[in-house]
Amino acid sequence: MTTNPSAASAGEPQFVRLTEAHRKQVGLTVDGAAITALTGDTVLSAILLHTRRVRDTEFSGEPRAGFCLMGACQDCWVQLEEGTRIRACSTFVKEGMHVLTRPAGAVEA
Ligand code: FES
Repeated sequence: MTTNPSAASAGEPQFVRLTEAHRKQVGLTVDGAAITALTGDTVLSAILLHTRRVRDTEFSGEPRAGFCLMGACQDCWVQLEEGTRIRACSTFVKEGMHVLTRPAGAVEA
């Protein structure tokens, strides 16, 4: 995967998958929208292959897309539908996962 160089101007996803496209597909939802990812993708990768935003910062409300991509910066918190709060960059996708990027009342995992 790499950052999409035309994403900012064209409204395209933040990431583009370059290789490893033959892994098993995984279905999940993000804010109620069905998307597909590949086994071994992180939630962050799955989201950014479809859009440019993972969450909004609680400080300014500005959209965020993660920063460190390795579980250190806290910039990719999202919530699962049942209320568990996860770091999108260090959580692998699972079939049937329901991810919310604008959660209310999150509980840390
Ligand atoms: S992007 Fe830094 S913790 Fe996930």
